[in-house]
Amino acid sequence: MKTRITELFEVEYPIVLSAMMYVSVPKLVAAVSNAGGFGLLASATVSNSEEEVRKAIREVREMTDKPFGVNIPMLLPERFKVAKVCQEEGIKVVNTSIGNPAELMGWAKEARMKVIHTCGSLGHAMKLAKHGIDGVIVAGSEGGGHTGFVGTMVLIPDVADKVKVPIIAAGGIADARSLAAALCLGADGVAMGTRFAMTQESPVPENIKQRMVKATADDTFASDMATGFNARALVNDYVKRLMTYRKGASSWEKLLSAIRLSRKLKMRAGDMAPLGRKALTRNAESTEFNMNMVPGFERIRRAYQDADADEGFLLCGQVAGRCDSIPTVKEVMLSVVSNVQAVVDGASVKIRP
Ligand SMILES: Cc1cc2nc3c(=O)[nH]c(=O)nc-3n(C[C@H](O)[C@H](O)[C@H](O)COP(=O)(O)O)c2cc1C
Repeated sequence: MKTRITELFEVEYPIVLSAMMYVSVPKLVAAVSNAGGFGLLASATVSNSEEEVRKAIREVREMTDKPFGVNIPMLLPERFKVAKVCQEEGIKVVNTSIGNPAELMGWAKEARMKVIHTCGSLGHAMKLAKHGIDGVIVAGSEGGGHTGFVGTMVLIPDVADKVKVPIIAAGGIADARSLAAALCLGADGVAMGTRFAMTQESPVPENIKQRMVKATADDTFASDMATGFNARALVNDYVKRLMTYRKGASSWEKLLSAIRLSRKLKMRAGDMAPLGRKALTRNAESTEFNMNMVPGFERIRRAYQDADADEGFLLCGQVAGRCDSIPTVKEVMLSVVSNVQAVVDGASVKIRP
C-alpha cells in the first residue's frame, strides 16, 4: 500500500502508532514498526533524563531494524536536549506536539531530520505549513489525550483543502473503515493511539485495558481541568469529581503531586523549582510546562504506572467504545490493511449511477 506517508516514512503501510506517554514504549513501538507501520516513541515520561531517551531509542533498535520516530512535546523543559539525543542516535523523524515547533525547525533542517507536528486545529496546521513542516498529524476531538475541539470528520477535509504537506489523520481511527474514511477525507495515512494502547504488546495495566474494553463511546470526558489543556480520558471516580465540581487541583494537591511526580520520575529538585515560577508568570498563550499542570500529569502517571483505575487520569479516546478485545499489534495491522479495499469497494457499490 503506497501513499505519501509510506514514502515519507519509508514503511509498508500508512499507519502510525500515536505517541502516548507511558504507553508508546520501546516494545509497542517496535511491534508497530515490525508489523509494517511507523512507531512513535513517547519521550514525555523519560525526558527528564536525556540518557533515558537514548536508552529507550536503543531498546527499540534491539527489537527492530525498521524505521520509527520520537515524539517531543514542546512543553517539555528538556525538549532541546531530547532533540539533540535523537540527532546523535540517528533518528530521522521527530514528532513535535503540544506547543510550537518553530523554535526547533531551523535546527532540525540543519540536522536533516524530518519534523511532523501533531495539531488539533486548521489554524495551527496552516501556521505549521508556513514553517516548513514535513507533515502534520491532525487529531480530531474524539481522540484520546490532549485534543482539540473539532471532530475528525470536519477537521481533516478542512486541513486537506488548505495544507499541501502530507496529512496523517488521528482521533477515532481503529479499523479498515476508519482508514478508508480518513483517506476519503483527504488524509494520506492515519495514526492510532487508543487502538494500539488496547493490544497485547501495550504496557497499559491489565485492569485499565479491561476498563477500555468495557467502555462505550459515551464513557470518556474531555476537559482542561486536569492538565491545563483539553484532554480526553475515561470517566472514573477522579473524572466524575472534575465533572461535578468543575475545578482542578487544590494547592495542596499541586504540592503533593509535585513531590510524588519528582520522586517517581527521579526528577531533580532543580528541575521542579522553576515550574512554580512558570505557573505564576505564565501568559495565557504559553504552553510551557508549569506547576498547575503537574497534578494532571501525576494522575496520568498514576493511571499508567501505578494501575490506579479510579484515581488516575486514564487518557483514552472515544474509539475505545468500538474496540472490544485485546488483539496483538500484528492482528490489528492485518485486519486494517487486508480489509480496506473491501471497504472501499463496498462503499462504491452503494453509489448507484
Ligand atoms: C494514553 C495516551 C497518552 C498520550 N500521550 C501523548 C503524548 O505523550 N504526546 C502526544 O503528543 N500525544 C499524546 N496522546 C495523544 C495521541 O498521540 C493521539 O493524538 C490520540 O491518541 C489519537 O486519538 P485515538 O486515541 O482516538 O487514536 C496520548 C493519548 C493517549 C490515549
